[in-house]
Amino acid sequence: LRIAVLFGGRSAEHEVSIRSAANVMAALDPRTYDPVPVFVTRDGRWLLSCYQDGRLETPDTGTTLCLVPGGRGAALGMTADGSAAPLPPIDIVFPVLHGLPGEDGAAQGLCEVAMVPLAGCGILGSATALDKDIAKRLLRDAGLPVAGSLTLRRDAAPAFDDLAEHLGLPFFVKPARQGSSVGVSKVNALADFAAAIEEGFRHDGKLLAEVFVKGREIEFAVLEAPDGSLFVSRPGEIVPAESHGFYSYDAKYVDESGAALVVPAELPVEVEATMKELAARAFFTLGCDAMARVDFFLTAELQPFVNELNTIPGFTDISMYAKVMEASGIPYAQVIDRLVDHGLK
Ligand code: DAL
Ligand code: MG
Repeated sequence: LRIAVLFGGRSAEHEVSIRSAANVMAALDPRTYDPVPVFVTRDGRWLLSCYQDGRLETPDTGTTLCLVPGGRGAALGMTADGSAAPLPPIDIVFPVLHGLPGEDGAAQGLCEVAMVPLAGCGILGSATALDKDIAKRLLRDAGLPVAGSLTLRRDAAPAFDDLAEHLGLPFFVKPARQGSSVGVSKVNALADFAAAIEEGFRHDGKLLAEVFVKGREIEFAVLEAPDGSLFVSRPGEIVPAESHGFYSYDAKYVDESGAALVVPAELPVEVEATMKELAARAFFTLGCDAMARVDFFLTAELQPFVNELNTIPGFTDISMYAKVMEASGIPYAQVIDRLVDHGLK
């Protein structure tokens, strides 16, 4: 099976994607898969990459590739030289692109238009989950517990006092369409506010100001079988180091001791069952299919809040999705097999 693995990309999570994709490549069993890694540069060109000694090449020159429509058996064509022969047909595309464009339905739509099978969540679920503002409205409308928030736009950003009155202190400011906590700030007081807003708007024209839920960070992996039945993993817990204050980008990817992962998380049996149920409902509410990681906060009173869904969750060494699946009896190679089966169905 020829599987095109798209990685890199134009988003702020470019580096994270490279790390995720290296792990995906490592997990692809060579007896089943013939992988074609495609590096998407920061300016959006698709270049043929190569995986060797656990590393993915990230070239900055080379022949630009494109997807040549044609259903299963579509090809990655070469645009620089019209006469160049396309690469052998591919069977399925696996976008390992975090953030946008890539995790937001864009890459998924490209596959749909080109009639190429796709591994992972489709257009609708990708689009709703990536926009925290839209996702929250849908989750809230479905009666799922979410932290209170207000949406901020450049021309309609409430004053600090209004936000503090509505949300209490501290509150979070986060870009609506970013991942890996890029652009997220915790606002403890008026003195933090201007910088938080400025940082947020550097990454998106729409922000969320959100109630700070004091609690544990608990995550579940969700995987859909080709017949539509849903598997929800055991829970995993993120314990950010005190020094970071929250699970920031640095705590995730820069500081090696920035956070500890506890897998499986220790939860009372009935709380785990309730949260699994909520994870499945959240997945369907956002129109997701195939795969997502559902992230929660759990208060000391054991009240869960759905924080967000990630339809292309991180697959880096420190990432949770593979770890909780493994702890649930499904090793990573099997996760990929299942995603491919789902995509080819
Ligand atoms: N957005 C990052 C990659 C995650 O959710 O794991
Ligand atoms: Mg996210």
